[in-house]
Amino acid sequence: MLNGVDPVAKPAGVDASYWNALVPEGNESTPERFALGKKLFFDRRLSSDGTVSCATCHDVSRGFADDRPTSEGVDGQLGVRNSPTAACSAFFYRLFWDGRSPNLEHQALQPIVNRREMGRPLDSEGVVAEIADDPEYKAMFQAAYGRDVNYADVGNALAVFERGLNFTDNPFFRYLRGDENAISADAKEGWKIFNDRGRCVSCHQISPSNPVGTNHKFHNIGVDDPAPDFATLAKRAATALNESSLPERTTEELAFDPELNKLGRFNVTELANDVGGFRTQQLLNVGVTAPYMRDGSIATLWDVVDHYNKGGEPSLAHDGGIEPLNLSERQVEQLVAFLFSLTDVRFGAENAREFERQRAVATQRRPERDDAAASRRTLLFERFAPPEKTNVANEKDETAVELTPTGDAPGKNVGSISETKTTSASERELEGAEKETDAANVENAESPTELEAPFEIETGDDEDALFLLVPDEEESTQPIETKGEKSR
Ligand code: HEC
Ligand code: HEC
Repeated sequence: MLNGVDPVAKPAGVDASYWNALVPEGNESTPERFALGKKLFFDRRLSSDGTVSCATCHDVSRGFADDRPTSEGVDGQLGVRNSPTAACSAFFYRLFWDGRSPNLEHQALQPIVNRREMGRPLDSEGVVAEIADDPEYKAMFQAAYGRDVNYADVGNALAVFERGLNFTDNPFFRYLRGDENAISADAKEGWKIFNDRGRCVSCHQISPSNPVGTNHKFHNIGVDDPAPDFATLAKRAATALNESSLPERTTEELAFDPELNKLGRFNVTELANDVGGFRTQQLLNVGVTAPYMRDGSIATLWDVVDHYNKGGEPSLAHDGGIEPLNLSERQVEQLVAFLFSLTDVRFGAENAREFERQRAVATQRRPERDDAAASRRTLLFERFAPPEKTNVANEKDETAVELTPTGDAPGKNVGSISETKTTSASERELEGAEKETDAANVENAESPTELEAPFEIETGDDEDALFLLVPDEEESTQPIETKGEKSR
């Protein structure tokens, strides 16, 4: 199974005590439970209208994520958060971007009863009624848990399946284990930058024994643009939570609110420190799970690095670790090369395609790039957009406009391809002209095209591993025949 890897065993290289601590007692992995979880994961009957399965948003050929900024549930309802990969999620003891779920068993049941995802009523009996008479399920539940079809075991089996999705065999770990040729010279330099001036390692610790690349903590890295009015939002969320008789449900609702979800971890803990904090996301298989960040607002890994390079979007609520890095264009590319080396070799072909696709996009458009901010030629306060509305006289507004960087603000790098994000009316008028200038400057900008492929492309047997994960029925959202033929 899984190309010789046993999906019910602990992944290689991971400490046994760490791994065992992640498995709740009584739900140890067995082949029967894995098979049941796999069937459930691809079964659209879990959703209220039979259109959505877990795999709709956690698609095998997309690294168990999807390619949308935010996911679409039953009745075409759009969510407000990006679907993270379900692969390697076994390593987390706080699931979801805000960590509101303690383990996979608990987590797996949440999307089913979420009215915007799979749309089942809270009592969840609907799912059980739907599949209880299916003789195949009856036999599989008995074989897995020695019980009839029941809701708790739906979650248990899904968790066992996910615990088998350990896509941790990547070129970078092969390099760490001594295969010098597993990654390119650029990726090796990128690894140094990751640990050194990029400061990535302060949140994304990664090693074969702690492979996912996260500190499991919550940080505000300045993704929101413009920065939200956190004080007002926090008051609203706190009121909702305090008045609720079911705070856990309210937290779940808040995670789907277009504004209040930006509070992140605060909606779980109500601690001021957690305002705007999101869990450090894993980096495994990051090459194949675009777009990025909890709101899917960042399109490519070039943009991710540009984001960090400029110190995030201007906000006073950033974590201390988020500040301008002054990385050169070459260093940005090396860091990107490193990130692409973290994808499991079984996704090798998809990773190579994604690298080319993202590179093509990045050659055309680098919306997060801001060389002036990255090199501190513009300072944080200069980057704040003026307030949209002012209740005092216009003078105030004008002062703010002067402070905001525009296309010809002093110190702005002339060769930069950054786009200045603006909100004031006067600047909106300027925007057209500025965009033209920027477009002209793109030609002068250093081009990312000379980058060598950061990984060896593995084909053949390794790719077959994916086939084993896709069930035979046509329920799969990605029939394997089309794998590789689709392009984004
Ligand atoms: C409509 C799309 C959608 C469906 C259907 C869906 N998910 Fe998700 N999934 C998401 C989104 C969006 C998130 C992040 C939500 C958040 O953090 O608030 C998520 C989060 C997760 C996570 C947490 C990963 C992490 O890094 O913390 C896991 C695991 C997961 N889903 C598994 C499942 C399973 C199992 C099912 C089926 C029972 C399922 N999902 C159904 C969209 C979906
Ligand atoms: C202060 C902690 C911190 C530092 C430093 C940090 N990150 Fe992150 N990283 C996070 C958090 C938190 C998220 C999720 C944020 C969100 O979506 O709001 C994240 C998300 C990401 C993602 C997106 C993953 C996905 O699947 O969407 C990538 C890629 C990433 N970081 C790479 C890096 C790199 C490269 C560096 C160094 C240049 C870095 N990070 C530095 C905390 C950090």
